[in-house]
Amino acid sequence: MYPSLLSYNTFRINATCRELHVYDSIDQLVSLLPQLVGQRWLHIGGGSNLLFVTPHFDGIVLHSHIRSIEVVERTSDSVLLRVGAGEDWDAFVAYCVEHGFYGLENLSFIPGQVGASAVQNVGAYGVEAGDHIEAVETIDTETGENRLFSHAECHYAYRSSIFKHEYQGRYVVTHVLYRLSLTFHPVLTHTAVVRILENSGLSPDTADAAALRHAVVEVRRAKLPDPHEVGSAGSFFMNPIVSETQAQQLLSTHPEMPHYPASNGVKVPAGWLIEQCGWKGRTLGRAGVHPMQALVLINLGQATGSEVVQLATAIQNDVKQRFDIALHPEVLYIH
Ligand code: EPU
Repeated sequence: MYPSLLSYNTFRINATCRELHVYDSIDQLVSLLPQLVGQRWLHIGGGSNLLFVTPHFDGIVLHSHIRSIEVVERTSDSVLLRVGAGEDWDAFVAYCVEHGFYGLENLSFIPGQVGASAVQNVGAYGVEAGDHIEAVETIDTETGENRLFSHAECHYAYRSSIFKHEYQGRYVVTHVLYRLSLTFHPVLTHTAVVRILENSGLSPDTADAAALRHAVVEVRRAKLPDPHEVGSAGSFFMNPIVSETQAQQLLSTHPEMPHYPASNGVKVPAGWLIEQCGWKGRTLGRAGVHPMQALVLINLGQATGSEVVQLATAIQNDVKQRFDIALHPEVLYIH
């Protein structure tokens, strides 16, 4: 009987694997490394950013239960926290808000674990995890040795880091060092969040971190499926970046198209493109497009990974044909 991965992936795909190892210390992780040599293996955090495409992953799965939050340094205006990779992300954000450690409020209610925040560079409402990461503690799976990556070495960019690309599968994150502020400097760039604060009689000057966290949770609840009820991996695709010329062409035919400046072009919301192609709320087999946010693909119940891929591919084809834009999954496909 193979171990089930059902409770290890937020898409709730009923896949199995050859072996599953849950570890709760660095020593345990290191003792598992010899078994990985020459084998297919995969490390999963909260499983909130992957899709098991086939019903069986013929390899070894590792999952971290390293849980701890330590204050390792306190200055007059900041605190340095060392957080176990297996901590639940949102519980960590809640802890920070309660203790007056500021910076992560906008990243409330994102499913997943702390370790994944350092790999994915999770982002929402104008804040990215990497903005607050001072360093990342890892184990090199080839040598079993510790390696500390400084912020600069992590190469953070939109939904990306060195752990997701050059070093994918080489280093396992064990702890993340977050530098947070003792002064509250809210990031209020998203009108949906500001509107909720205003509805509660608060303004950017009067809202505290708990109110901001509450507003972010409300926006996510309104737009995104409840992770406890509906299987999904949040945003399925990354928002594409198109050239200035292509953006101007698109705006001449679709002046209402939302768009944002990006370092290497113009960012266009994938959710808008998918909605324009008529996919919002549509289903294909047991997979569907969330009716409130077209960027989120959902499991309607017992969907297989390949049904989700079929839906994703149909969407990619339509967006390519209609807008000449390639959508790339943010979700990692595991075969
Ligand atoms: N839009 C549509 N139709 C849709 C969805 C969006 O027209 O079905 C439009 C919205 O009206 C808005 C624009 O697209 O003008 C952007 O939408 P939204 O603010 O919902 O954000 P997003 O770009 O779709 C990104 C992140 C989310 C994050 C939000 C808020 C990515 C891939 N996704 O979504 O992250 O919560 O911004 O900052 O960058 C996740 O990664 O799982 C995730 C949920």
